[in-house]
Amino acid sequence: MIFFIDTANTEDIKKAHAMGVVSGVTTNPSLVAKEGRDFVEVLNEIISIVDGPISAEVISLEATGMIEEAKKLASLSENIVIKVPMTGEGLKAVKALSDEGIKTNVTLVFSANQALLAARAGATYVSPFVGRLDDIGHDGMELISEIADIFAIHQLDTQIIAASIRHPLHVTKSALAGAHIATVPYSVIQGMLKHPMTDLGIERFLQDWEEANKSK
Ligand code: E4P
Repeated sequence: MIFFIDTANTEDIKKAHAMGVVSGVTTNPSLVAKEGRDFVEVLNEIISIVDGPISAEVISLEATGMIEEAKKLASLSENIVIKVPMTGEGLKAVKALSDEGIKTNVTLVFSANQALLAARAGATYVSPFVGRLDDIGHDGMELISEIADIFAIHQLDTQIIAASIRHPLHVTKSALAGAHIATVPYSVIQGMLKHPMTDLGIERFLQDWEEANKSK
């Protein structure tokens, strides 16, 4: 499993990219709105930082509008992936865009059937939302497992992006459940790299080193 960073904050993207752990970026309208910056300006900056798939979401609800937006966004870079909501109109757009060689990420996936339809429409990626399912008392991880099994049984090459990841355990479980990618906020990357025993170990090594060198 590889990692995308789930943010439109370019400072966080730079920090994660410098650690070499980020293969791509996902954004959504809420994440972009939070930054209070122009969408295209943000995308161009992300493109200059990360050489990998960068998901940019359309806001139209009809296929024609989605396709129009998608073409403008895709013209920014060949790394741009068009994020399309999981609706009938969204699938129409996915079909048209995939016929033109434009990569798509079908978002807001909450069932295995939605993922299967998206894959059949030609989606490059599907994004099942783990955290939001957990929020309403469902098992988000079960959905990742189901989709991974179905795609394997039917040899579908659409990649599964475990999305709406809220904490490090979601990441471990997504990897075990067969997600190809986990898209994670920077705070989760920080949570993943931390362990109290690591901090304690560093502290003890330094203490021992200082102690031994005091007498020299
Ligand atoms: C994924 O592509 C989405 O942008 C994101 O993971 C949604 O996460 P949230 O449910 O924490 O908003």
